[in-house]
Amino acid sequence: MNEQKLKIAVLVSGNGSNLQVLIDAQKTAELPIEIVGVISNREDAYAIERANQAGINVAVLSHTPSGKRMKISTFEQHALEQLKQWQPDLIVLAGFMRVLSGDFINACPAPMINLHPSLLPKFKGLDTHARAIETGETYHGCSVHVVTAELDAGAVIAQALLKINASDTAETLQNRVHELEYKILPWSINLIAKGMFANGDKKLDLNNLPHPTCLPALPWKLAFVE
Ligand code: GAR
Repeated sequence: MNEQKLKIAVLVSGNGSNLQVLIDAQKTAELPIEIVGVISNREDAYAIERANQAGINVAVLSHTPSGKRMKISTFEQHALEQLKQWQPDLIVLAGFMRVLSGDFINACPAPMINLHPSLLPKFKGLDTHARAIETGETYHGCSVHVVTAELDAGAVIAQALLKINASDTAETLQNRVHELEYKILPWSINLIAKGMFANGDKKLDLNNLPHPTCLPALPWKLAFVE
């Protein structure tokens, strides 16, 4: 895996600004990745436009042929077929807003990571920025974690944090956290691409995260100078 590009599939639901960061990093070869495909569960996600612009395969799995919005089980069935075709080494949830079943996660042909806008285990789920302000947190940020059947609960690989300002609103905080996300997601994927989480056979194994003795225990907490 060290010399080869890491093949990644990206699942999205919205704007796709994190997808864009990965597309740009692929283009400039800043990251040793090949985005083999993007799956969107929404037909109106701007992420689709970003992937199309970059000439990346896109599967929009939002409606059935009869025009009904897909149930999650139908989405999962189609997504699984698509992922098996693309054969990614890693599946990245970048702003993917539906909860996936344990059966789907276990059946996926590659390990999966998620980008979540909070310092997990704090603020699982939605509205993380508003909740961080309401509860009077000093710090907030984002996490990259392994996806398991339990929502936002898999092993955290890395977190990036910032100090909440007295003047922050949910919106300004979201914007500030986005800037951290644009650093921590590629940073984490780079570690994975470089084989940091590979076992002896160089096979990516995020369910059994090794702790190299030369590094501190996970999660790695990064504070970027703003
Ligand atoms: C990101 O802030 C990501 O952390 C969040 O959605 C946003 C997507 O932005 N993900 C979740 O809330 C997952 N529960 P983007 O579409 O511009 O990359």
